[in-house]
Amino acid sequence: MTVPVAYWADQVKAQIARRYGQLADADGFRAGASTRARDAGYPAAGLAALPSPVAARYSGCGYALEDIDLTGVRIAVDLGCGAGLDALLLSQRMVPDGTVLALDLAPEMLVRLREAAADGGGVPIRAVAGDIERLPLKDGIADLVLANASINLTVDKQAAFAEIARILRPGGRLVARDLVHDGALPTDLALDPAAWNTSLGGVVSEDELHGAARAAGLVDIRISHHRPFPPVTAVRLEAAKPC
Ligand SMILES: C[S@@+](CC[C@H](N)C(=O)[O-])C[C@H]1O[C@@H](n2cnc3c(N)ncnc32)[C@H](O)[C@@H]1O
Repeated sequence: MTVPVAYWADQVKAQIARRYGQLADADGFRAGASTRARDAGYPAAGLAALPSPVAARYSGCGYALEDIDLTGVRIAVDLGCGAGLDALLLSQRMVPDGTVLALDLAPEMLVRLREAAADGGGVPIRAVAGDIERLPLKDGIADLVLANASINLTVDKQAAFAEIARILRPGGRLVARDLVHDGALPTDLALDPAAWNTSLGGVVSEDELHGAARAAGLVDIRISHHRPFPPVTAVRLEAAKPC
């Protein structure tokens, strides 16, 4: 039986939203998240200064803000924000009139984000329910787009990058921490909706990730900071929207 692509994509996405929703609802985040954040390069002192559960709810694959200059960033968008570690760090470092828009597919994650934001002490963090592949945000609104371990969960990478390019202002930047696979994933894994729950189903090769960003019109694309993230590799992807 052939499964229509749109139906399959909806099924995968519903499963991702359910899985992350349940995780957030039950506060069932993986043990050792704070240690993983430190191992990923988040400064220990910065983590210790945050409201206590935030680092323990980290599910990313790298230190998203490493060496990121926030000068002139007034609107930052965190895509697939989860429980809000990066959104919170952003809000604490941005200019006083800045705003963080933190978006997630799972409304239950946004409940955790709001808890984090309430105690954070930085610029306002606005929770936005939505899908990276169809962002409910205006064209050209973002100076900076951050995405930590979320582009790999999108079903249509081309749609995801097209949306990122659309919401960036000319000259705006994308900084993503994501996962890549050396070569194609085995077909049975790529087609198994359950594999997407473990973040693996949507992982593409470095070339495909680079190609999707380029096809969306982004420039200065750089993939760096390779780190083993068994059975795949974690990377940093940087790109910009042309001025
Ligand atoms: C692996 S977690 C990373 C969370 C967070 N960025 C962090 O570093 O802790 C991925 C997050 O992306 C969200 N997500 C997955 N697919 C999405 C999509 N298409 N649109 C928006 N959010 C999505 C999930 O609900 C989940 O909260």
